[in-house]
Amino acid sequence: MNRSVLPAGELSGTLSPPADKSVSHRAAILNSLAAGSVTVHNYSEGADCRSTLECLRLLGVTAEVVNPAEGSEEEPKLVLTSPGLENFNEPETVLDAQNSGTTMRFIMGLLGSTPFLSVVTGDRSLRARPMGRVVQPLRLMGAQVMGRGSDSLAPLAIRGGDLNGIEYTMPVASAQLKSALLMAALFANGETVLLQPALSRDHTERMLRAMGADVVEDGLALVVRPGPKLTPMDITVSGDISSAAFWLVAGAVHPNARIRLSNVGVNPSRTGVLDVLRDMGASVTEQNARMEGGEPVADLMVESSELRGVEIGGDMIPIVQDEVPVLALAAALARGTTTIRDAQELRYKESDRLHATATELTKLGAKISELPDGLVIEGSGALQGGACDSHGDHRLAMTLGIAGLVTREAVDIADADVVDISYPGFWGDLDSLRGD
Ligand code: S3P
Repeated sequence: MNRSVLPAGELSGTLSPPADKSVSHRAAILNSLAAGSVTVHNYSEGADCRSTLECLRLLGVTAEVVNPAEGSEEEPKLVLTSPGLENFNEPETVLDAQNSGTTMRFIMGLLGSTPFLSVVTGDRSLRARPMGRVVQPLRLMGAQVMGRGSDSLAPLAIRGGDLNGIEYTMPVASAQLKSALLMAALFANGETVLLQPALSRDHTERMLRAMGADVVEDGLALVVRPGPKLTPMDITVSGDISSAAFWLVAGAVHPNARIRLSNVGVNPSRTGVLDVLRDMGASVTEQNARMEGGEPVADLMVESSELRGVEIGGDMIPIVQDEVPVLALAAALARGTTTIRDAQELRYKESDRLHATATELTKLGAKISELPDGLVIEGSGALQGGACDSHGDHRLAMTLGIAGLVTREAVDIADADVVDISYPGFWGDLDSLRGD
């Protein structure tokens, strides 16, 4: 589906961004490790989180979305009942993670400890993404894994088993890799020590600890001791800051904007986008800070701002990486130069996000050059309309949608319904902010 976005004279209103995709995946997968039944409130309605439920069902987990009675004020909820990892069944067919890297890498970590044969695959984009980073340590722990591309690409066949704990230096600061290994470590014999090159999102550590797991942080090292029984727990998922980021940029770059975003997760391992936008001069404030289910949550306010170029790199990258496409748009509309470095991991996302972002924003008149590990963006203060393509990447489709609100003419986006991966209500929310 194509979508045409016209410039807006004003942006105003309140939005509740959709449920956090990362926390939703974890609520379903980590709770399934232990036997029991739990309720997840505000589970993400995005396609990625549905892929996770499909994979869990094939292993023997019951995952049922319960809709409230007509007229009730209640929201739909997800009820999960798991027999526990020890009682999972051999899946009859292939586990299909579709477009979701989080689903595939997490499920691989879980299958490291199951003694039967499973095959995992995904859509064309996911089948091209690197899985060797998970395969190698799982093999060191004792799992058998084979796949395409010298065992680094899906489809991958896994026969897990009696794993042994390892000390492992992670080659990339990836929360998906870290989470896969934390799950494998919970069912291994002996202690596992993971050494991270930099901090990445820590929802898995927080949730596992809350469920009773022995996961200790020592600087960038994580020490896991198997043993304690995991207790599944009910979870209420807050709004996704990676989805809120589109409105934060829209509000900051639009000359006549005031937007309130309620109930957004502000875990410090996710809030790099707030730091970068404030550094650029954006007016973003937090209100009603509170804790929900072990995660910090707040309401965010953003207003029209004059933005300037900044340097983004180093340890900031893992905590801002999903927001780089929309920050590149902010940089193109700012004054001065923005340099993004150390972001080579973005080449292995749903698209090569450095190349795809540079290509599409260039079509709108932005001055962007690619570095092997980043982007250099000369801010020009204004962009023109034009025809663009999402490259099948939800975050790029939404970035181009935000561009359309501030460009001089309409922006036409091909393959725009890919936003359903993380934010099915995105286009409706965009229209609801128009004050004209
Ligand atoms: C995610 C981790 C990130 C991020 C992805 C979701 C997660 O990837 O890009 O959208 O939920 O763990 P990395 O594994 O590269 O950190």
